[in-house]
Amino acid sequence: MTRFAFRSSDRVFVLTGAGVSAESGIPTFRDADGLWRNYRFEEVASPHAWRRDPRLVWDFYSMRRRVASTAKPNPAHRALAALEKSLGDRFLLCTQNVDSLHEQAGSQRILHMHGELFKSRCDSCSRSPFDDSNLYESPSEIPRCPCGGKIRPHICWFGETPFHLNEIFAALGDCTVFFAIGTSGTVEPAASFAAHALRRAKTIYVGPEPPANRHLFTESILGKAGELLSSLFSP
Ligand code: OAD
Repeated sequence: MTRFAFRSSDRVFVLTGAGVSAESGIPTFRDADGLWRNYRFEEVASPHAWRRDPRLVWDFYSMRRRVASTAKPNPAHRALAALEKSLGDRFLLCTQNVDSLHEQAGSQRILHMHGELFKSRCDSCSRSPFDDSNLYESPSEIPRCPCGGKIRPHICWFGETPFHLNEIFAALGDCTVFFAIGTSGTVEPAASFAAHALRRAKTIYVGPEPPANRHLFTESILGKAGELLSSLFSP
């Protein structure tokens, strides 16, 4: 794998998806062993599911907390943290992943557009999201906020608006190189980010197979992120 030749004027936007954490043992959503092959997202990851059966929703996110709590960053997370170190404020990482493996590898300029697995928030009041790694497995009572509302996972569910979109679109309009890594290109609005970047940036996909939005990329580098990124981003 040849190293990517960044120019000193480049501003780099990186979008990551579940594939980046796959080599850390966290299942993706749509691959053969993916979460959406075993769960119906309408039943565990939507406002409707929360209204209908919040216990089932907490069972699902407690299972995901349990899996993510023992996972360790892999070479892909580390390569992205090292790239940030060399590019400084010319770099922004936007992840659809809700695990904290990018941060554990050292990433700081990072936006979690789909929320964070180890945070919770109230479903009723405007209290800020707070750190929470508790497992609420088959809870007899749903945890409650002092205001009386129910405590829910701090996750963007289907039908909800992702976080940080203003900041994300500002950076997309300004970047000169856009990477999408380990994401199937099927979920909006992330699947259209490459279209926004394409007006002025090179767009590069990294993952084992071409994504659904492959036509939006000027280049695709096929393979596992953990095996490719350290060489691609080597200083
Ligand atoms: P998907 O499961 O849809 O896609 C995972 C992608 O990772 C696939 O394209 C795989 O080819 C690729 N992949 C697998 N192993 C890889 C590896 N070792 N290195 C690089 N790539 C690899 O996951 P996402 O695109 O992230 O949203 O899914 C987007 C959103 O859909 C998620 O954030 C989640 C889900 O529903 C919410 O829950 C709101």
